[in-house]
Amino acid sequence: MSASLTCALALALVASGSLRAQVVEVNLTAAPGTTQVAPGVSVNAWLYNGSMPGPTLRVTEGQTLRVRFQNNLPDSTAIHWHGQPIQLGMDGVPDISRPAIAAGQEFIYDLSNLIPGTYWFHPHGHEMQLDVGLASVLIVDPANPGSDPAFDVEQTIVLDDWTNPLGGAFSGHLLNGRSSAGQNPVSVQLGQRLRLRVVNVAATTNYVFALDGHAMTVTHADGNRVQPVVVQAIPIGIGERWDVLVDCNNPGTWSLAASTIENRNATVVRAVVQYAGQTGPMPAATFVPTNLASGSLLNYSQLASYFPVQPITPTPNRTFTASLGMGMGPSGMIHTINGQTWPNVTPFQVAAGEQVQMSIVNNGMMMPEYHPMHVHGHFFRLMGTAGGTANPPKKDTVLIRPNGQPGSSATVQISMDNPGRWLLHCHNMEHMATGMMTAIEYLGDADGDGVLTRSDYEPMLPLPVVTISDQPSAFAPGASGTVRVQWTPGQAFGLFIGPNELAPWVSLPGLGTLVLDPTSAALYGLVLTSTSGVATLPYILPNNPAIIGLRVGMQGVGVVPPANSVVLSTFQALTAR
Ligand code: C2O
Ligand code: CU
Repeated sequence: MSASLTCALALALVASGSLRAQVVEVNLTAAPGTTQVAPGVSVNAWLYNGSMPGPTLRVTEGQTLRVRFQNNLPDSTAIHWHGQPIQLGMDGVPDISRPAIAAGQEFIYDLSNLIPGTYWFHPHGHEMQLDVGLASVLIVDPANPGSDPAFDVEQTIVLDDWTNPLGGAFSGHLLNGRSSAGQNPVSVQLGQRLRLRVVNVAATTNYVFALDGHAMTVTHADGNRVQPVVVQAIPIGIGERWDVLVDCNNPGTWSLAASTIENRNATVVRAVVQYAGQTGPMPAATFVPTNLASGSLLNYSQLASYFPVQPITPTPNRTFTASLGMGMGPSGMIHTINGQTWPNVTPFQVAAGEQVQMSIVNNGMMMPEYHPMHVHGHFFRLMGTAGGTANPPKKDTVLIRPNGQPGSSATVQISMDNPGRWLLHCHNMEHMATGMMTAIEYLGDADGDGVLTRSDYEPMLPLPVVTISDQPSAFAPGASGTVRVQWTPGQAFGLFIGPNELAPWVSLPGLGTLVLDPTSAALYGLVLTSTSGVATLPYILPNNPAIIGLRVGMQGVGVVPPANSVVLSTFQALTAR
């Protein structure tokens, strides 16, 4: 090992100490479990940290959120941080951003430059995992509290549909993981201002929600602050978030009710907002507030960004249409974008720095369908709104209404400022699973191999990258496999292997077979420099059936200019079971 890299590693240790205040570390485990959706009613589910929804993760703008994720599911998985325009490698789409995390394995998500607002997270790629309870909320508070509207109390409202996929005795709609029968009232006091952060994590249901006896002032659309709009009821597509303020000036015990978007005359789940001192009965679960059934609905055309945003340009670099369709395929209904079904798609090709305009049009003919269209890694700027060209609202999910209805199309602009290959898809799980997904792909062949692949985009991560397999078989005793490492070409990179990150390490000569030996106290490390910035390192796990818990940490250290700057890869634990 070179002296300079030894020195660099020591610096890394020091730096991680002094930066600790800026890093919020949380442990998140996904595992099967059971959860109570109402008194005496339990269902089987897959859960983050044992609850549904999972724990709300909360940081302040400027902090890095480091999520040490342990996959204890019987399946590989990954976490997508819905709406946050993070780097591709952390976006949690198996085989697009990174390989999935195999059953039993661990991965650290390092999320920096998080945008303030209400966001959420969920698995991706295995569509079934979108419907078994794995969802939760990520809240990023602005660094300057004054850039949020003032409020006295807040409540997160997570709407979900539950079809009982793993067995149990409930199907229906859930609010914060409980049916209407399982709700405890949200307590407020006369004169308070209540902030609701409403999130739709459902698999297939777009909702409308309203609070009986109260109007709502919309303040944020998908996390982005908008100029206030007062409405009685709000449609919320799958994946969307609305933050609203409620002035608590009408004492009582009120239903905060949701219906499906198709039928506003039936409450499918409700919470209760109760003023202090009120003892009236809880509103019936089936009660339909007047404003839910017939109050004025929020319309996208009312929205304008509160803060200045990149304006709409009259001369976009590229213009695309995404025509949403449906049809019959060999094994049933298919959903298409421009006539194609995922993964047999022609990606929309773009280049970094461009402004792209896209018209998303519902051309489905067989039945009326809503399509909550979501883009990864970027925001849509909605055209044709109260924000005009100077203050277009920013959203990451746009609910496209059925063909033939107002709102059956939307035109958006996107700043291509986050290179990679990014999904654009309908967030209705069934539509997504039957094809309604495509990609936006940045042009450029960074590794010069003539093929646009993930390795072309990973260099955009400001971190070295260590990639291990998503197959459990790669971690069995006696298994051999490879670890792929990638760093900034031409710079030094060290891979060190130990029982934990930042463990002591020693150099290995060359790039030979890496044999991990749990009986040896010796720990291995190696230093790589090359102009390509990538290497594949073979390993062989000891063929010892008695191994029940070898856990080896791999972490790359890159040394970048200016002198002494050190970057660490995401820690990858390799656990043999
Ligand atoms: Cu909520 Cu492709 O994501
Ligand atoms: Cu759809």
